[in-house]
Amino acid sequence: MATSDYADVFNATTTAFTKVTPRVWGPAGTALAFQLQLRPGEAVLDVCCGTGASAIPAATAVGPEGLVHAIDVADDLLEEGRLIVSDWALQNIDFVTADATTWEPPSSVPAAGYDVVSSSYGVFFLPHMDSAAARLTRLVRDGGRIGFTVWREHSLEGFAGPYFEVLSKYVPAPPPPGPMESPREANGRIDTADKFASWLGDLGTESVVVNELSNLLPATDDFTWDLVLGSGLRAPLARLDEATIARIRQEFLELLAERGVHTLDMGTLVGTAVVRR
Ligand SMILES: C[S@@+](CC[C@H](N)C(=O)[O-])C[C@H]1O[C@@H](n2cnc3c(N)ncnc32)[C@H](O)[C@@H]1O
Repeated sequence: MATSDYADVFNATTTAFTKVTPRVWGPAGTALAFQLQLRPGEAVLDVCCGTGASAIPAATAVGPEGLVHAIDVADDLLEEGRLIVSDWALQNIDFVTADATTWEPPSSVPAAGYDVVSSSYGVFFLPHMDSAAARLTRLVRDGGRIGFTVWREHSLEGFAGPYFEVLSKYVPAPPPPGPMESPREANGRIDTADKFASWLGDLGTESVVVNELSNLLPATDDFTWDLVLGSGLRAPLARLDEATIARIRQEFLELLAERGVHTLDMGTLVGTAVVRR
């Protein structure tokens, strides 16, 4: 999917994205900021920031002497983030519309680079994930840190499987996979602690730490459907009419009930590492 398509998909998620944030994006963002051991005065780049789930905890951690550049391609999510930080009177964070694969640090960033680059549930959306992550790592000073959250293997399975089963009745089968890796495939390469740690190490880092954040959420109808509408899972619904979407919602929720899916597994890996040149 092209970057502009992600902007459209994620702009459309805004209402539901914000609703699920306290249960889904928020805990992971806070865990990532904590594991990065952010210190007052540090300069942070948070990419694929959405409404700021990891960028806002970073801003409160680095304090008024620090700075956070929070970048994303989805303007509507960024605007939500701006409202939060304005409400909190945080002055040290800028939400900027930008592509994470081409971002160049402005002059407010020390010449040696950022102290930290982070992304929560973002890195697997970047085309050519490995080279994009390598480029982001080069924006970090020697001894600085990188940190990402990704979905742990088997998380989402009991939920996304039935969703795509129902969807396949209403949406033509997607074209066979092309040369470009999908976000799901990219995440699949780093969805265990071992695979993720080894991938982080290959970026030229040391002191790699991968922790699992367990997050098991009751699958109420409203939350389950908000999760579809508030995430990349909503992309295939874009060209369907309201009546069809309502039918998909109903059949999907019935299928989950039939299969006894009462809990949604949002298991997440939080990986951090120290950059060495
Ligand atoms: C699952 S959301 C995660 C948002 C946020 N980090 C959070 O945890 O709440 C993924 C985000 O990646 C953004 N994104 C995808 N490709 C991007 C790119 N090339 N540059 C910047 N942001 C991108 C999307 O717009 C979306 O907001």
